[in-house]
Amino acid sequence: MTQQTDPKPADASSKISDILNHGALNLALAIGYRTGIFDAMDALGEPVAADDIATAAGVDPRYLKEWLGVMVCGDIIALSRNEAGQERFHLPKPYGDLLTRRSGNANLGVYTQEIPLLTHCAMEPVIKGFCTGDGVSYSHYPRFQAFMTELANAKHRQVLVDRFLPAVENGKIVKQLQDGLEVCDLGCGEGVAALLMAQHFPESRFTGVDVSREAIEIARQEAARRGLKNVAFFALDAVNMKDDPTFKEAFDYVTAFDAIHDQTRPSEALESVYAILKPGGRFSMVDIAAHTDIAGNRNHPMGPFLYTVSLMHCMPVGRVEGGAGLGMMWGKEKAMEMLSEAGFQKTEVTEIPDDPFNFHFFCQK
Ligand SMILES: C[S@@+](CC[C@H](N)C(=O)[O-])C[C@H]1O[C@@H](n2cnc3c(N)ncnc32)[C@H](O)[C@@H]1O
Repeated sequence: MTQQTDPKPADASSKISDILNHGALNLALAIGYRTGIFDAMDALGEPVAADDIATAAGVDPRYLKEWLGVMVCGDIIALSRNEAGQERFHLPKPYGDLLTRRSGNANLGVYTQEIPLLTHCAMEPVIKGFCTGDGVSYSHYPRFQAFMTELANAKHRQVLVDRFLPAVENGKIVKQLQDGLEVCDLGCGEGVAALLMAQHFPESRFTGVDVSREAIEIARQEAARRGLKNVAFFALDAVNMKDDPTFKEAFDYVTAFDAIHDQTRPSEALESVYAILKPGGRFSMVDIAAHTDIAGNRNHPMGPFLYTVSLMHCMPVGRVEGGAGLGMMWGKEKAMEMLSEAGFQKTEVTEIPDDPFNFHFFCQK
């Protein structure tokens, strides 16, 4: 057993104070991102009066002043005085690079929304879950679901077609998609990935499946709006596909982006994947890059954040009706074990270009 040294009381106290300050800053950062204050300050580009920021961002000056207090005390926004001794506020460029809508792939502003949104949606049902063990249904998370789609939109648009797919089997899958494959995207949500792939690979046919009727309706409307004829969407529980003759050995390639660990019956969902693939068909599962044991994640740079998102969303939605409740941090070892139990004899696990949060689990039937 390894020896663990307990922290001194003073260390523990200053750590908790830091956490209180950082938690408060996360909330204020989320407000600054959502209201566009960071974008406005970034565009102003120099130290200015609070009223000028309020005008540029279109926000109330009194609320802004209180918010500036948080940001200055948190060392995010720089405070100076002009020659007349009046206060001037400035967003340093390194923060503008991370907290504005121009940040692109480096945008961390969008992630500041996550914990406040989850607190708003699920604090009470999750606390109740600590007593009852019950899951929390998706209906508690309407704004969080919309946020996840926004996140998926940004991620898939930047990574899927240009970086992820070309790396699968050293470009072989892209060549085959250009020639024409039958593809199923499982847990497709509002269809962001399936729609993008359908647009880029007109010779292939895409089937998006999700248990959420609302998400499928949105995906269908978007396909119609874009005039795409090579994509269809079905509101189905992935688990039922394995017993549906329509889908038996129907696909050359199945994808699941962040869509297995949330499911209530993930083992059966993976059995479905195996059943709907043609012999020799391939499966790309993109899921969180973590270890199954907590100890393996101790040095993960975003460990507490990811476990919290899992605690507040992934694990409880997966526990509904006695579900497995794997949680987002189910980890590589558990994922490999479950893929093997579903029938996949060999799984290759690789990192994904520009996506440090996920692994690519690649299997062949
Ligand atoms: C985190 S979202 C990922 C959505 C999408 N793949 C993306 O990358 O944006 C997980 C999705 O899995 C879906 N899902 C959960 N359980 C499911 C099930 N049993 N069958 C099919 N889809 C399911 C949810 O409705 C949700 O849309």
